[in-house]
Amino acid sequence: MSDILVDHFGRLHNYVRISVTERCNLGCQYCNPGRVEKAVEGNPLTFDEIERMVRVLAEMGVTKVRLTGGEPLMRPNLEELVARLRAISGIERVGLTTNGLLLAPKVQKLRDAGLTDLNVSLDSLIPERYSRITGGGDVSKVLHALAAGFKAGFEVLKLNMVLMKGVNDDEIESFLQLTQKYPLHVRFIEYMPMGHDINGWEAGYMPLDRILERCAKAGFSLEAGPDPGRTTDEPAEKAADSGPARYFRIQGAAGQFGLIHPVSQHFCNSCNRLRITANGHVKPCLFWNEELYIRPYIGQSELLKQLFLRALEAKPGQHIMMDQPGIKPSLKATMRLMSQIG
Ligand code: GTP
Ligand code: 5AD
Repeated sequence: MSDILVDHFGRLHNYVRISVTERCNLGCQYCNPGRVEKAVEGNPLTFDEIERMVRVLAEMGVTKVRLTGGEPLMRPNLEELVARLRAISGIERVGLTTNGLLLAPKVQKLRDAGLTDLNVSLDSLIPERYSRITGGGDVSKVLHALAAGFKAGFEVLKLNMVLMKGVNDDEIESFLQLTQKYPLHVRFIEYMPMGHDINGWEAGYMPLDRILERCAKAGFSLEAGPDPGRTTDEPAEKAADSGPARYFRIQGAAGQFGLIHPVSQHFCNSCNRLRITANGHVKPCLFWNEELYIRPYIGQSELLKQLFLRALEAKPGQHIMMDQPGIKPSLKATMRLMSQIG
């Protein structure tokens, strides 16, 4: 049997998201309400365990790793892990998704260690609003970190903006203007029903089509943006790690923007991800409850391979976020929050 991570539906899994901690220094209502950080976190996987696991995954066809959390920069010496993962044969890209608050003083070290991709979560540019959404965050630190990121040599930085009706949808134009000035990839993300936040979700959800309408109203001329995960002539559907965004560029802009719409148009048929939670469970689908506890087997490569393949067997062809009609989580839908998944 082949060890390559291809599932029943022919999807090659070459992208692994690893949560390095469930702790976070923010308490965003849609991701970490009530600050899961205050709960006692079990022992997260050690760097040795993560490195060993990624060696095995690289043998199984994984080329890209993204470190997530919680807030991954709450883990001391993360640059050491980045360097260790980049040194593994077959691992071409190591990315980080962060809220940016702790980033500025560390970004050069991370870059020097070989970090290839940096995604920063930022839902508002208005200081009081940012603080309200995040439970006390200081937006000026995030903006400072972006400047430091460019200075450290990242040619492109991705900004993740979760669009929420009545919360930050009046800032669409401000985020678009950022792409005109800077080589940023702003990604507008549909607010997803995660964990127990289903009621709050209904009020805040807004489909992303509105963004294209707002562009037309603002008089922006759009062109298709180059897909950052694609090499020159490769058709979009063949791109191995192009991610879930559809990209657009305002004519003449330095950057571009993307729409990630997991709710209104899921992208399950091109899903290439596996997730590892901070305490060592493989989670083959973001929205599925099935998980497999692999931590005790990390030292046994052959067994570990079998477990990864078994986890992949349980991956659905398509997720169900909730039962329809009515906003009630499916029995199979995940009850974890994003901060507990990564
Ligand atoms: P790239 O490597 O730059 O493509 O990053 P990414 O988009 O894979 O990762 P990031 O951590 O920046 O996640 C951005 C958003 O993508 C998240 O907020 C989710 O909305 C969405 N997303 C990430 N992974 C999944 C997934 O497996 N399924 C679904 N439905 N949405 C996902
Ligand atoms: N809906 C959409 N995006 C979410 N994120 C966290 N929770 C949700 C949610 N409920 C985003 C964060 C981060 C990315 C990894 O996931 O903003 O950018």
